[in-house]
Amino acid sequence: MSHATTSPDRRGSANEPLQSVLWAGTHLDLLDQRQLPEEIVYLQLHTSEDVWEAIRHLKVRGAPAIGIAAAFGVYLGVRHAEGNAEHILAEVNRHADYLATSRPTAVNLFWALDRMKAKAETHARSGEADGEALKAAMLAEAEAIRAEDEETCRLIGEHALTLLSDGIGVLTHCNAGGLATAKYGTALAPLYLAKERGWDIKVFADETRPVLQGSRLTAFELQQAGVDVTLICDNMAAMVMSKGWVQAVIVGTDRVAANGDVANKIGTYGVAVLAKAHGIPFYVACPMSTIDLNTPTGSEIPIEERNEDEVTQGFGKRTAPAGVKVFNPAFDVTPNEYVTAIITEKGVVKAPYGDGLKRLFE
Ligand code: MRU
Repeated sequence: MSHATTSPDRRGSANEPLQSVLWAGTHLDLLDQRQLPEEIVYLQLHTSEDVWEAIRHLKVRGAPAIGIAAAFGVYLGVRHAEGNAEHILAEVNRHADYLATSRPTAVNLFWALDRMKAKAETHARSGEADGEALKAAMLAEAEAIRAEDEETCRLIGEHALTLLSDGIGVLTHCNAGGLATAKYGTALAPLYLAKERGWDIKVFADETRPVLQGSRLTAFELQQAGVDVTLICDNMAAMVMSKGWVQAVIVGTDRVAANGDVANKIGTYGVAVLAKAHGIPFYVACPMSTIDLNTPTGSEIPIEERNEDEVTQGFGKRTAPAGVKVFNPAFDVTPNEYVTAIITEKGVVKAPYGDGLKRLFE
């Protein structure tokens, strides 16, 4: 049961980008992405249960944003707990383990929760017995995760821009923009930087069935920023590519396996195959926190399956016969041979990915 109420949109003007997750002093303000683009509604989240529910139901979504929200969720979970550092540490671990059950695929969720746990552990083991100080450290760590993501995304944008040029067409799938991160996005970051530099890039946004992150979120945020964006249905990408309108595909990812296989929103694999068939580079942009060297290949990445209603009545009315069998995976895995380069805040990696990704962490 959610205790969320709503906050006003805190932007100074309608031209400022919307932020997906904001600490508001007493609670978390979270942009309800399910309501975009029709309504801009900030939910006030007060408990770790509120955050779990928001992640599970895609009110906050996109790998980095999920991690940021979860980090604040840990703090919300322990905020009113009383006791010494040992007790607060146990509570941190309990809330982190609970939040880890919200969604399975985006590794940023587990990365952020592990980072919160590690910080709490170090604090408690330092001999500092004060539980209040540990709670303050949890808030500071969540804020650091959010702030670092903003800088990380800007750097990803800078590196990605070296692979693009003025005047080209770019196709993207799902939403890997500012709404999916603290700011700028991953795949969309170079497009914002290009706009700042006066480049003319034409973006094609796949609608991204069944939850429509491409039309509801990517088309919305690019349009708000004045980027030239054209919305297409998923089944139009081949035609748009065949016309020569796309010189690069750039997408985000929820988890990169150690061999460079990439999990991202369902439909990404198809786009990668199309890109290869048309000789178009297929770029994947992500923070280092999305690279999971503990998962050897894409086959080991857990793929979330979501409710069949997303497929049968996602447009607010039934679009399939009642009782029909439905398969609704939220993600697919693009094999590394389709990936031209992986772009991180530390630079651009090309095949062979096994060595290249490992070197990034050295
Ligand atoms: O189900 P979602 O909306 O959370 O899926 C999001 C994506 O697939 C994004 O492309 C990915 O998380 C990268 S966000 C920078």
